[in-house]
Parts: sequence; C-alpha cells; structure tokens
Amino acid sequence: MISEAQRDQLIAAATAVRANAYAPYSNYKVGAALLTADGRIFTGVNVENASYGLTVCAERNAIGKMVAEGVGEITAVAVVTENGGSPCGACRQVLVEFGADVPVWLCDLAGKIHTTTLYSLIPNHFGPDHLT
Ligand code: THU
Repeated sequence: MISEAQRDQLIAAATAVRANAYAPYSNYKVGAALLTADGRIFTGVNVENASYGLTVCAERNAIGKMVAEGVGEITAVAVVTENGGSPCGACRQVLVEFGADVPVWLCDLAGKIHTTTLYSLIPNHFGPDHLT
C-alpha cells in the first residue's frame, strides 16, 4: 500500500522534473515519475525534436532511466501536465510491460489529481503471455 506521503512525493517529483521538459514545438511540457518497490523514484520528461516524429514522451524516458539503473518493476506512476493529460497509447503499453495494475495519478498544475490504474488505462493489453 502506498501512503499519501509517498503519493505526494511522487507527484512533487513529476511536477519538479516537468520544468526540464524539452518541448519547444508543442509547448506541452510533461513530467513523469515512477515509484519502484524499493521506494526509489525515477523521473522523465518529454524530449521533442525538430524532426517531430522523433519525440519521446516523458513516461517512456522515465522507464528508460529506471531500466538503465537495473530496476524492472513499477509500483505507481504520476504524470503532471498543464491540464491533466493522460498517457498516450504507446506509453501505456510500455508502462504495463513493467507494472501490474498499479495506481496512476494524472495531475494538472492547479493541483487536481485524477486517480486511475494502469490496467484501467490499457485493458486487455498485449503481454508476454501472447508470445508463448
Ligand atoms: N507527451 C508525453 O510526454 N506523454 C504522453 O503520454 C503524451 C504526449 C508529449 C509528447 C509531445 O512532446 C507533447 O506531449 C505533445 O504531444
């Protein structure tokens, strides 16, 4: 069970890192933070490119950092945007590779928090079972 303090800490991390988003084309900054079983937090921001299609979302950049540090499972996710935007389909699929039906908090800059879960965001997802 994740405490309210941990939730607030995760949202604060996503809010803080959002400032570093590189989004000169869309001006839509995204900050993501992943909580792991050992209590660590991995953050990510969206990184855009003049060749627009090369943009990488905040959630997937956070996953990349986590995996690079040798961690393979998330226990909660926080995403902060100006208007509480929800993760794109690609990010949902990548998140569910590394998490069960964990809490996901979608937050805006006014402090509004929408609570959902990973399986709610990507029901009937494709997974390793389909490959056997
Ligand atoms: N974006 C994310 O970082 N995460 C998502 O799940 C949705 C979209 C970014 C990509 C792009 O830099 C900007 O938001 C507008 O699409």
